[in-house]
Amino acid sequence: MAEHTDRAARVGIIGVGGLGIANYHAEAFLATGRAEIAAICDVKADALESFGQRFHVPRALRFTDHGTMQAAVRPDVVLVCTNETLHAPLTIAAAAYRPRAILCEKPMAMNLGEADAMIEACARYGVTLVVGHQRRYMAQYAQARELLRGGAIGRLEHIQAAGHPGSSLMVDGTHTVDLVRFYAGDAPAEWVLGQVDARSRRTGWGHTLEDAAMAHVKFEGGVRAWLTTGGAGATPEREGLGARVSGPNYNRIVLHGTDGRIEVAGDAPDGQGPLLRVVARNGPEVVDPAPGPWHRGLSPQAELLDALEDGHRHPLDGRSARATLEILMAVYESARLGRLVALPLPNPANPLEQMLAERAAGMGGR
Ligand SMILES: NC(=O)c1ccc[n+]([C@@H]2O[C@H](COP(=O)([O-])OP(=O)(O)OC[C@H]3O[C@@H](n4cnc5c(N)ncnc54)[C@H](O)[C@@H]3O)[C@@H](O)[C@H]2O)c1
Repeated sequence: MAEHTDRAARVGIIGVGGLGIANYHAEAFLATGRAEIAAICDVKADALESFGQRFHVPRALRFTDHGTMQAAVRPDVVLVCTNETLHAPLTIAAAAYRPRAILCEKPMAMNLGEADAMIEACARYGVTLVVGHQRRYMAQYAQARELLRGGAIGRLEHIQAAGHPGSSLMVDGTHTVDLVRFYAGDAPAEWVLGQVDARSRRTGWGHTLEDAAMAHVKFEGGVRAWLTTGGAGATPEREGLGARVSGPNYNRIVLHGTDGRIEVAGDAPDGQGPLLRVVARNGPEVVDPAPGPWHRGLSPQAELLDALEDGHRHPLDGRSARATLEILMAVYESARLGRLVALPLPNPANPLEQMLAERAAGMGGR
């Protein structure tokens, strides 16, 4: 744990409406006792008003333009909580004001070209870039990793991961893929074989999303993962997210090792079963994850403040998020090309958008 300075970190938030992600970040930063909400920005007056009232942000510190906010307030930490197509342009623009850190929501960017430009801009201005894959810090997922690393099931061989049945790779699948990488020890992916169904052309957060996806990923060192998202029907993304999650729960993950398996029931399972179970040589054992949302009480926001003080690499940094995004893009590229694709992926564009454009132009069969 880093030694803490007396001054609270000043947090500026871009995008304070929507489904509540800015609320979650604000509360998590305030819960550290080491941060304050210094300024907020949104293009919608009603979002500024309700968020400003809730977090006691004076009117003079509520802005409709992010550049004006940064020039006037110079926050230490800038949060990018807007719709997804704006993550890259706003992060790149924010970096030029040299905040100490930018926490951008997931997915990091719409394609690898954008992700590289974000990493480059933050490196140029000495800004720490972190992306909101917070599930690595949640008790059940983090404790499963500790058990895995402690040898509870021998050597990890396979990972089965069921993402949100109403969602898509870019919206919630990014969390599922990030957890898979977490359990695979952040080993580089060697290749990806994927398929998507995008016939409804549903949209959400400013872009087109597929209805269902599945993927097979091989990591360096030999671990393989199988994962699924969507498939609940071609509902609009936001309605899909509201669909009741049943059967394989959202982010239900099974880790198969040489000596047994670890079962993580998911985010908020609706069944009566345990959140975490180890089935190993000595028989099944239910494990109660530590109480509270964050494993050992450490939130990603608290770790960001620690990282700013002691300089350690944040586990959710831009490079990690780029590796997650690369797998998402590789699933799309595999579907577009109809074959397995090796990584590193050379395509800087979004292959789902390319595939849909090609099909619309009569260049593909589906
Ligand atoms: N990490 C998680 O678990 C998690 C959970 C929910 C949402 N998210 C992500 O958070 C992001 C935001 O989600 P949401 O549902 O709140 O989105 P949203 O699009 O509903 O709301 C975003 C807010 O940004 C504002 N905005 C848009 N353009 C702006 C600009 N140029 N300057 C300032 N404000 C601007 C909008 O007016 C709106 O109030 C998305 O990328 C989403 O995927 C992450």
